[in-house]
Amino acid sequence: MTSRLPGLRDHTPLDRRRTIAEAAGLDAEALAPLDPAAGLALSQADHMVENVIGLIGIPVGVATNFTIDGVDRLVPMATEEPSVIAAASNAARIARTTGGFFTSSTGDVMIAQVQVLDAVDPAATRLRLLEARDELLALADAQDPLLVSLGGGAVDVSVRTLETRTGPQVILHLHVDVRDAMGANAVNTMAEAIAPRVAEIAGARTLLRILSNKADRRLARARAVFPAELIGGAQVAADIEAASAFAEADAYRAATHNKGIMNGITAVVLATGNDTRAVEAGCHSHAARSGSYRALSRFERNAAGDIVGTLEVPLAVGLVGGATRAHPAAQAAVRLLGVATAQQLAATVAAVGLAQNFAACRALAAEGIQRGHMTLHARTIAASAGAAVDEVAAVAERIVADGRIRVEHARDVLAALRAGSGTP
Ligand code: MEV
Repeated sequence: MTSRLPGLRDHTPLDRRRTIAEAAGLDAEALAPLDPAAGLALSQADHMVENVIGLIGIPVGVATNFTIDGVDRLVPMATEEPSVIAAASNAARIARTTGGFFTSSTGDVMIAQVQVLDAVDPAATRLRLLEARDELLALADAQDPLLVSLGGGAVDVSVRTLETRTGPQVILHLHVDVRDAMGANAVNTMAEAIAPRVAEIAGARTLLRILSNKADRRLARARAVFPAELIGGAQVAADIEAASAFAEADAYRAATHNKGIMNGITAVVLATGNDTRAVEAGCHSHAARSGSYRALSRFERNAAGDIVGTLEVPLAVGLVGGATRAHPAAQAAVRLLGVATAQQLAATVAAVGLAQNFAACRALAAEGIQRGHMTLHARTIAASAGAAVDEVAAVAERIVADGRIRVEHARDVLAALRAGSGTP
């Protein structure tokens, strides 16, 4: 299977869906749940959240050209922002000339926190809890025999004392390998189950028992090389490095730089029915791990003068449970991706984040972001002016050339096109 599908944008959504299903080796109906008429039903939504009154539609597009760890993948992205999917696909096209994206991971370990209050001897409490490590792990594992049978379960305990404005606290971390789940339910259940024994050992009381979204034992990393000759030459490569250095040193720029990464990450996380807020909280906390908020990625030039992009982010994403299982469109998106494990999903998400980030930095360091953005925006304007699928490109091209990307002008251009005169 190849993720290289040139000309995809010239199809209608329905044709595109068929082409994509065929390219991914899926049967024609596999992606039908992505159709607004066949996706999540109101009755299903009613079981997902409270006081349901409707659904909101977010476009799902497919990023092409991705090769991740030697495997081509077509990547579903749910986003309302124009240019994002095209930009990711362009960056992936450049990266595939050097083998695509290469990833690694720390594994699927989530952290649950148990907060201990009123310990009279916090330092000794810490040691008593560490001495009880095996007992606490066994107690945690007893909550989830299925996870244990799949090779997961509680793997470690760590304990810290914390000075706070309400006095000293003892914080216990339970580390749990959650395998292919996002893991929130599993680790929250375990945290609640071990808390009474923790309180007993501490001779104190426990308060919060909840996972940490700072999932820094569940890091995904992606790396790719973007040849200087394909990105505008040596000066553009040098300027991308300078743009990266800016985001590595400045929180104001880092926030926008990381927003560009999240454009890709959140779109894949949402399309696959995963928890976008959990992933965002994790990524931003990772960006601030030094004590200052900084870029999550880095672009530097290698010995050949090409740009090497690297990204490391915590990614608490799963394939079992939650909306990923309950939402038919999310299931279709996961099938399209063809990932078999949460780690493969995380690797894909990280690769898309890096691609997205590279595309934004390259545009910013070269022609600026608006040219490409407005060209794509012009297509939306042309469609809102009433242009049919086979008229959109011509109208968009003309309103860009005229430098008047507005609906009224698009209407005039369309009328002229239909009248055969070509000039409004
Ligand atoms: C826009 O959605 C994202 C960018 O601002 C990211 C960046 O500045 O790197 C273009």
